[in-house]
Amino acid sequence: MLVQEGITQLIGCSDSPRLDAEVLLQAACGINRTTLARNPCQLVDPQSASAFFVLLKRRSEKEPIACILGHKEFWSLDIELNEATLVPRSETEILVQAALDAIPPDTAVDVADLGTGSGAIALALAIERPLARITATDISRAALAKARENASRLGVDILFVEGDWFTPLAGSRFDVIVSNPPYVRQNDPVLETGPALFEPALALFAGEDGLDCIRALCVDLKSHIKPGGLVALEHGHDQQDAVYALLSATGLESIVHVNDYAGLPRVTSARGSL
Ligand SMILES: C[S@@+](CC[C@H](N)C(=O)[O-])C[C@H]1O[C@@H](n2cnc3c(N)ncnc32)[C@H](O)[C@@H]1O
Repeated sequence: MLVQEGITQLIGCSDSPRLDAEVLLQAACGINRTTLARNPCQLVDPQSASAFFVLLKRRSEKEPIACILGHKEFWSLDIELNEATLVPRSETEILVQAALDAIPPDTAVDVADLGTGSGAIALALAIERPLARITATDISRAALAKARENASRLGVDILFVEGDWFTPLAGSRFDVIVSNPPYVRQNDPVLETGPALFEPALALFAGEDGLDCIRALCVDLKSHIKPGGLVALEHGHDQQDAVYALLSATGLESIVHVNDYAGLPRVTSARGSL
């Protein structure tokens, strides 16, 4: 049985060999989970079988399932990906929740998502807060193209603009600014083995201490946040003190950390002064 062969190949390469083998077989055959579960021994045509083995090889080289399949669930939304987009991480849902807590459902407020990538954060906010006027930026044209496609497929209205952090937003102020910027240290050993090997460097690296992008964002935060508005930034689990210091130096107030599902500080938020 093909699934069994897949499991055998993936043992030692994946933490979830059965699930991965099943998902890849479904993708190769164009069938869903229920169909596969009902007919586990169904005959697979030779073309689908060879497609399955190609996918299995990619997975056995540790390429993440989301990169292989070209999509990932985030905030219960199906987010399509391309070679220029980061795979949205579950911890980024903490950032979405921090922003939602600051966006009233019944008021039209201005929201910016900087470094939107696939659009994951902006899309989740747009779905949850249909009245919000959301602007999403990225320096990568290819990532923005995918984010636009995702917005159109999900039927939400987001203004996408290309450029370096706040540069394309000159003169605009927002009630809420969120960003999950690149924050990986240039020489982080995790990059030699981890899934990040398969993701765009532009979405990951931020200089020697991983803080270059947060530093760049902090230069202009104060002039783009409305009085009392919320800034929320995702960062590495050991970067909270440095991010606190950077936000504090901008003159923003009420700085707090929010922990991720593992109990690690993952988001730091601050308020514009009133
Ligand atoms: C860590 S990824 C986050 C993607 C997405 N927001 C998410 O949470 O899944 C960082 C994003 O910032 C973008 N980026 C990197 N440098 C940038 C810059 N100077 N100006 C704007 N965006 C930038 C990358 O292209 C990438 O899409």
